Amino acid sequence: MRIEDVKKICVIGAGNMGHQIALSAALAGFKVSCTDISLQMLEKAEEFARTYLPERVSKGKLTQQMADQGLSNISFTQSLEEAAGDADFVIEAAVEMINVKRKLFADLDRITPPQAILATNSSFIVSSKIADATKRPDKVCNMHFFNPALVMKLVEVVQGPHTSTETAQLTMDLCEKMGKNGVLLKKEIYGFLVNRILAALHHEAQFLADMGIATPEEIDVAVTNALGHPMGPFRLLDFTGIDLAYYIGMERYQETQDLKDKPSPLIVEKFAKGEWGRKTKKGFYAYE
Ligand code: CAA
Repeated sequence: MRIEDVKKICVIGAGNMGHQIALSAALAGFKVSCTDISLQMLEKAEEFARTYLPERVSKGKLTQQMADQGLSNISFTQSLEEAAGDADFVIEAAVEMINVKRKLFADLDRITPPQAILATNSSFIVSSKIADATKRPDKVCNMHFFNPALVMKLVEVVQGPHTSTETAQLTMDLCEKMGKNGVLLKKEIYGFLVNRILAALHHEAQFLADMGIATPEEIDVAVTNALGHPMGPFRLLDFTGIDLAYYIGMERYQETQDLKDKPSPLIVEKFAKGEWGRKTKKGFYAYE
């Protein structure tokens, strides 16, 4: 399959990442079906598209025609069969739990046309942990976007040992079509490039806060003012979701049994309190 043959993209998950990946693809001219088990998430994603696009038009960032086209290209459904049944390319952006992803990929293998590419937007999990749930491992790879996906340019494409060169190339071509800078990794590594670097920063920031050396606010001020990051590590955690940080840490700890992979006491406390960041209106900071 060539990029010209990719007409319909299915995005699985309408959460933090999925709703913006879906809209990016729709704006790039693809027919997109976004699916989620939660009707509420789908309604929120549709509402986002309906408010975001006119805002872009009034800001002069999109023409009315581009916005109309984007909106007409995207649809939302709770039915995986309907979303993926005629998809040429699937981007899975479901919850960061390996068993959920493996089950989804097994279902996708049954539902999608045999030539369809199945990519995971997992933040850390390499696709070889998932590919063997399908009978088409050569068509499985990582395609990892960053939050907010409509804004962030980088996409990490990871070619696992099972991934064909055609699949990796087509995924890179898709990045280009979506106006993204794809970076192709030919060796799998947990967390890829960016999240490994980010994890090292977050690990140290949480250690300093847990030790009482500085508060999360003070650490954020230090990082934004000294390193020029747009957000400090704690504001970024609120943005990407403390629940996500907790699940990723627990999943990794279960696998490695290495204490340094366990979510820090601060993350465990915030997770238990239901203070997951922006999505719950409270995390390290409070939101309207
Ligand atoms: N969704 C879509 N667009 C958004 C947005 C959102 N949530 N927030 C801001 N934007 C857009 C705005 O529309 C604006 O676009 P234009 O300039 O084209 O008009 C632009 O971003 C700048 O917005 P603002 O001026 O309102 O705010 P800002 O300058 O503070 O930028 C930000 C907001 C882009 C989020 C910026 O703070 C930033 O880059 N933060 C760091 C984000 C980051 O590190 N992301 C990676 C996270 S790690 C990750 O994603 C890993 C993973 O696996 C999940």
